Amino acid sequence: MNQLIDVKAVAPPKQSVPRKGSGQVASTEEYQALYRQSIENPTLFFGEQARKLLHWYRDFDTVVSGDFYGFSNPPSWFNGGLINACYNAVDRHANETPNQIALIYEADDERLNYNVTYEELLARVCQTAQMLKSIGVKKGDIVTVYMPTIPETVYTILAICRIGAMFSLVFAGFSPNSLRDRIQHANSRVVITTDQALRGGKVVETKSLVDQALEGTDCVEHVVVVERTGAKVNMVEGRDFSYNKTVPTFGVYCPVEWVDSEHPFFLMYTSGSTGKPKGLQQSTAGFLLGTVLSSKHVFGVSQGDVYFCAADVGWVLGLSHAIFGPLLNHATTIIFESTPLHPTPTRLFDVIDRHKATHLYTAPTVLRLLRQHDEGQIKKYDLSSLRCLGTAGEPIAKDVWEWYFNEVGRRRCSICDTYWLTESCMVMLTTIPGVSNMKPGAAGMPFFGVKPKLLDDKGHEITSRPAEGTLVFKNPWPSMARTVRGDHQRYQETYLKPFPGYFFTGDGAVFDKDNTIFITGRVDDVVNVSGHRISTAEIESAIMTAQAENLSIASETAVIGVNDDVTGQALNAFIVLEPHFQDKGHAKVVEHAIEHVAKGIGKFAVPKRLFLVKDLPKTRSGKIMRRVLRKIASGEEDQLSDLSTLSEPAVIDHIIQVVKASS
Ligand code: WTA
Repeated sequence: MNQLIDVKAVAPPKQSVPRKGSGQVASTEEYQALYRQSIENPTLFFGEQARKLLHWYRDFDTVVSGDFYGFSNPPSWFNGGLINACYNAVDRHANETPNQIALIYEADDERLNYNVTYEELLARVCQTAQMLKSIGVKKGDIVTVYMPTIPETVYTILAICRIGAMFSLVFAGFSPNSLRDRIQHANSRVVITTDQALRGGKVVETKSLVDQALEGTDCVEHVVVVERTGAKVNMVEGRDFSYNKTVPTFGVYCPVEWVDSEHPFFLMYTSGSTGKPKGLQQSTAGFLLGTVLSSKHVFGVSQGDVYFCAADVGWVLGLSHAIFGPLLNHATTIIFESTPLHPTPTRLFDVIDRHKATHLYTAPTVLRLLRQHDEGQIKKYDLSSLRCLGTAGEPIAKDVWEWYFNEVGRRRCSICDTYWLTESCMVMLTTIPGVSNMKPGAAGMPFFGVKPKLLDDKGHEITSRPAEGTLVFKNPWPSMARTVRGDHQRYQETYLKPFPGYFFTGDGAVFDKDNTIFITGRVDDVVNVSGHRISTAEIESAIMTAQAENLSIASETAVIGVNDDVTGQALNAFIVLEPHFQDKGHAKVVEHAIEHVAKGIGKFAVPKRLFLVKDLPKTRSGKIMRRVLRKIASGEEDQLSDLSTLSEPAVIDHIIQVVKASS
C-alpha cells in the first residue's frame, strides 16, 4: 500500500474541461453536488436520468425495489416501464438524423473499411430481425452470437433485442468446447457466426469451430453464416444458411417489441473462483441506463463525437462501449476488427487521425504493447481531435499512464481510468475528465450512485484513511447483473453472501487520504491476463482432465498469476505428473496438457510457463500454498515469509531449482 498512498495528483488539462451546457458536470463542485444527490436520493437521481437519457414506451412506476439483503430477489429497477434497447440505440436517432454516420467499420484490412449511417443501420437491423423471426426466433429465446467485430455483429445484436429475444455473446476466440457449454447452457436454437474471421491478417475458422461445438448437441436448429471472407465452408443441409443471401430479401422495417424493464437482455459468461464460468444475466432497462450514464457522464459522449473503443465486441468492454454507449448517446462509433499491431504498431493512431476520433478507450495491456513498439512514429500522427483517453480492465502503471498522457494525449487530454466489472455493466469508479484531479494508477472516485466501502477480514467497514481492504458496494445500481442463469444460489453465494448487505467485487483496494481508490487486484483465484479474466480453477481442471495413452497426465496442479510487463499478469502452471509419466519424454506430455487447455477453454488461457515438479507446497491441512508458488515464480524466493504451516519444507528447494533451471 505504501507506494499508493502518496501518489501526487495531476490537474486535468484545461482543454478537457466539458463545455458549459453540455449536460456534463464541469467542475469538482458540480461533481460533488450531483454525487451527493445521487447517494442521498438515488430514486430521484436515477429516475431523472432514466427519463432524460432513455426513451420509454410506457413510463415506470417505481425506480428501485429491494436491497442486497433480499438474497432471493436482487433489487429490481423501473418496474412498470416498457422499453426497447434497439429503439433507444437506433430508431430515435435514425428518425432525427438519418444521414449521420452511426458506425465506422475499421476492417482488419483497412481497404475494406466502410461507414454505415443511422438510416442504413436501422434498415440492416430490421432486415436481420425479420430474418430471425422467419426462423422462429421470438421473445424469450436466446440466440448465441459467435462473431468477430464487424457491422453484421452489431446488426445481429440490435436485431435480437428489437424483437425481445436475448443474446448470449461468446467471444470468437473461445474453443469449441467452451462454445458448446455456452450453447447448451443457454439452450440456444440459433447460432450466428461467420464463414471465417480475420484478426491481424490471421484466419480464424469460426464456422468450422461452430461445427465442432455442435457435435453431440441437439438444441441448435439453425446456424446463420455471415460471409466475412467468402471462403467455401461446410454448410449442413437444412440447418445452415447464408446471412448474406437471405437478409436482403426482407423488408427494411420491422416493428419494435416493447419489453418490461426487467426483461432479460443478454448473457455474458465470466470466470469466477470455482467451477465453470457463470452465465451472468442482465436486464434491459438497467443495462441501458448504466451504459448510457457511463458513456454520457464519464466520457461526455454526445452527438458529433467519434468514439473509438478498440475492444472486441465479444467482450463486455466492446459490447458496452463500442456499441451501446456511443449509439445510445447519438454519437458515431468506430468498431475495430483488427489488432493494435496490424499491420504496424501505429494502427490505432492512424485510425484516430483518419477518422478524427474524439475518444480512445482501451486496456493498459494494449498501451504497454504500443509503448514497447513506439520508436517515435506516433509523433507523425495528428491526434488533435482527441479529447479524452479512457482505460479499463486492470490497474495502469505510472510509467504507462505518463506515456499515454504525454505521447497520445499530448498533455491536452484527460486520462480517464474506469473501474468496472462484467457484473456491474456501469463504470463504478472513475476519474471524470476535465473535472477530477488525476492520480496515475488510481481507478479514481465513485461514479454517481455508487457507494464503495472497504472491509477488513472480518467484514467490518474500515473508516480510517489511508487504508487497505476488500472493495464492496453498499447500494444497488441499475445495471448490476441480476442472476447467474440457472443457478441463482451461485449468484447469491458469490456476490451477496460473502459480506451480507454488500455486493462483493472480488477485488482488493487501497483508499488514500483523499478517498481516491486504487485497485490492488483480485482477492480470489481469478487472474487478469491482458485485461481478460481467467479462472485458475478452470485451467487447473482442464489440466487435470488431460490424458495420454488413455491415462490422466497430472496427479496435481496449481495455476497462478505472476506480474508480466506486457500482459499485466501471466499464467504459470505447476504440474505434478502421474507416476506413469514421470520418466517419459516430458515435452510430449506437456504438449498434451497445453492442447487440452487450448481445446477446453481457448488459446488465450494456455499458461505462459509450465513447470513439472515432484510435489506442491501444502499446508498441513493439505491446502496448496499458491502464495509461495507466486513468490517463487516471480523470482522472489527470498521473500517467502511465513512458512510455519508448510508440511514438507524440502519441496520448496526443489521447486526453486525447477523454476531457476527453466528461466
Ligand atoms: C479489473 C472489465 C484496475 C478488476 C471491464 C475487476 C480493473 C476485473 C479496472 C473485471 C481498473 C477492471 N483498474 N482493475 N480500471 N477495471 N479491473 O469483468 O480486477 O472483464 O474485478 O470487466 O478487472 O473484469 P471484467
